[in-house]
Amino acid sequence: MQKKILEILSKKEDYISGQEISKKFNISRQAVWKAINSLKEQGFVIDSVTNKGYKLINYPKVLNKHVLDNMLETEFIGKNMIVLETAGSTNDYLKILGHKGAAHGTVAAAREQTAGKGRLGRKWVSEKDENIYFSVLLRPRLYPMEISGITPVAGLAVCRAIREFCNIDCKIKWPNDIIVNNKKLVGILTEMSAEYDAVDFIVIGIGINTDQAEFPDEVRNKATSIFLETGKNPDKNKLLSVVLKHLEAELTKSSYKLNKTNLEEYKNLCTTINRKVTCCKNGRQIEGMAVNVNSKGELEVKTKDNSVITVNSGEVIIQGIY
Ligand code: BTN
Repeated sequence: MQKKILEILSKKEDYISGQEISKKFNISRQAVWKAINSLKEQGFVIDSVTNKGYKLINYPKVLNKHVLDNMLETEFIGKNMIVLETAGSTNDYLKILGHKGAAHGTVAAAREQTAGKGRLGRKWVSEKDENIYFSVLLRPRLYPMEISGITPVAGLAVCRAIREFCNIDCKIKWPNDIIVNNKKLVGILTEMSAEYDAVDFIVIGIGINTDQAEFPDEVRNKATSIFLETGKNPDKNKLLSVVLKHLEAELTKSSYKLNKTNLEEYKNLCTTINRKVTCCKNGRQIEGMAVNVNSKGELEVKTKDNSVITVNSGEVIIQGIY
């Protein structure tokens, strides 16, 4: 009912009376009033005037399902859109749904996470309404060994979306951090559920720092937000819908893989290439010059003795960054 009331409120420029709404949907005036109050609680600014009725003045600034459902321009990503007041981790939440058969393209976003997870067992700062936290469940028809391109392809799509929507000159730090001015703006954590020879589902979890003005001591020098970079608080619902649009477009176009075109763009945006790096391979620390990212999404590092070593996971420290 809230969705229907919202629809007519957003179409109407002027006030619409409670009586008209109750007649249209065959519900009591009390039910109209309840639905309006619930919308107000979610952050919709609705003016109510005696003898005139209701008028929608503004949309919530926080993540909201109704707003997102109306804004989304995608075919399958977010058709099933879940927006939670709070979650432990949206990745964990979606993995549970994934095992219960949730549809390809299901999105779970949360206004806060109490156990937000980063890569390599780290914690992801997830305070209420400060940033965007969401995960996308995909069921690509791929073999487990074919999925290595998904995260870089997703990173590229997110980077593009933020460049377009926020006008920020952000770059990619291999494998999939989005950084600006050498600080991290976005983190991506991909998890997979697979049998020996087939992927059941993949969950791509994305955290975009939007409004956070101060970070905890341990990440203060490494993290930034759209607010800190631009002085503006982005519309979180709009930004999320733009990100999902780019994500769907790129994943569909590339069939979830790095190809000649998107790899070229990825490499152009990747700040790791041509930098001195320290990384880890088979428990061994390697130092060298990052020279390339290959079609599997692996980083190629040239060491002092001129051999090229491929690195496919873990942490890379770029000299002068983090
Ligand atoms: C990283 O370490 O860079 C990855 C961070 C990923 C954070 C996002 S926030 C939404 C989703 N839920 C989680 O618990 N983690 C991811």
